[in-house]
Amino acid sequence: MIKIAPSILSADFCNLQREIERVPNADWLHVDVMDGMFVPNLSIGVPVVASMRKHTKRFLDVHLMVEKPGRYVEAFSKAGADLLTVHLEADMPPALHDALRAMDRCGVKKGIALRPITAAEAVLPYLEAGVDLILIMTVEPGFGGQKFMAEQLEKIAQVRRCIEKYNPACHLEVDGGVNADTARQVIAAGADVLVAGSAVYGAADPAAAVDALRG
Ligand code: DX5
Ligand code: ZN
Repeated sequence: MIKIAPSILSADFCNLQREIERVPNADWLHVDVMDGMFVPNLSIGVPVVASMRKHTKRFLDVHLMVEKPGRYVEAFSKAGADLLTVHLEADMPPALHDALRAMDRCGVKKGIALRPITAAEAVLPYLEAGVDLILIMTVEPGFGGQKFMAEQLEKIAQVRRCIEKYNPACHLEVDGGVNADTARQVIAAGADVLVAGSAVYGAADPAAAVDALRG
């Protein structure tokens, strides 16, 4: 089953409740947290996740584009995140494994994200550590509305093969430049969770855009 996770980065931040209600058919809501260090942009943080939690029961998929993300695991868990994804490039491996263990203690699902430059094999120790999700970026993280990097399709297929071999329950999420056309390609390559910002919130009818992505 393909899951669609609209990215609220492309939504109207002054009307988040209404924006959430515009996609009643979305499986998850994707929340992009940026620190201005790991990526050259700032977005939202813990208080916004806490407010969203008050207004929706939807699964909150929180993508941490921040340096040393372990510092924020407890705060985002308490705020009501369902899943926290940290970048493999955002800290040293021992610190990332500590962050994953903290997620277990806090009772949130755990994900690892890869920038476009990072090779597929880098996920192996994290699959073994039992992550619930691998996120493959198909744009350089930092901004919505960029062009899909087709050269990442092979990496998606490679990571799918690793997942089947070592941790078949793990989700494979793709984030960046996903629209109705590229959705077909990433699903064919093995993705089962699709993040889409501009393709959903840039559409006149966001719910129809979600259905179009599901194909
Ligand atoms: C980019 C974010 C994405 C972004 C995707 O750094 O991680 O989640 O919102 O936006 P689109 O779908 O417009 O590429
Ligand atoms: Zn994201």
